[in-house]
Amino acid sequence: MDNRPIGVFDSGLGGLTAVKELLRIMPNENFVYFGDTGRVPYGSRSRETIIKYAKQDMAFLQSNNVKMIIAACGTVSSVASGIGDELSLPYTGVLKPTARTAASVTKNKKVGVIATTATIRSGSYRRELQAIDPQIEVFEKDCPLFVPLVENGFIDDNEEITRLVAQRYLTPLKEAGIDTLILGCTHYPIIRNIISGVLGSGVTLIDSGRETALFCAETLKKKDLLSDRTEEGDCSFFVSDRVEGFSQIAGIFLGRNIKNEVSHVDID
Ligand code: SIN
Repeated sequence: MDNRPIGVFDSGLGGLTAVKELLRIMPNENFVYFGDTGRVPYGSRSRETIIKYAKQDMAFLQSNNVKMIIAACGTVSSVASGIGDELSLPYTGVLKPTARTAASVTKNKKVGVIATTATIRSGSYRRELQAIDPQIEVFEKDCPLFVPLVENGFIDDNEEITRLVAQRYLTPLKEAGIDTLILGCTHYPIIRNIISGVLGSGVTLIDSGRETALFCAETLKKKDLLSDRTEEGDCSFFVSDRVEGFSQIAGIFLGRNIKNEVSHVDID
């Protein structure tokens, strides 16, 4: 049993897709969330920069005495896959839990992966999926405009611009006949309705935030590190840029007002 908080980080809003699920499946846990909104996006940066940022993010979470760290960021999980090895506490990225579920869900063994340019360039999902099942055919597409669209609040089903961008990115995957699509960037589930509107109901979407939250709960249970708190836990949010912009969009996504729970931190 361990009542310390669970630490979650992402380049911005995307990690909230993991937080939303974590709060649902472990309502008695406390969480500390860091969104590096001052430096988002990570997905267009070099490996060295992504590793440097991720180390700073993890150091911040450790200074908050967390019991486990979740890199709820597809880019960090793919480009800096060994980063958790240096930690003396449990760690997970989104890659392995997400690939594991996608491989078990696909029936025709045609799996699409959409993610940031850095994630697609790393080839991480292709390697992971084919290590689980060499017969899986992987169709990859980077979608660099999705993160800025989400961070700027173009997330509603009626957002014509996001739908047009999604059509452009996703049509080749639809034509390839995929039956499963990995949302390999944690920002993407925020626009999942738009994505599934383009692909149709025959394609199962795998939400990397959700899969990682489930994996985190499994890990803590196995290691006997779940909290024994009986009252509802809480979540403190930290960002490296303006609190207002984050609070507004995060509040819409989480379905509650979090304005008073968000603080600014100077990550450098
Ligand atoms: C980004 O910062 O470019 C997106 C983060 C992710 O890959 O989940």
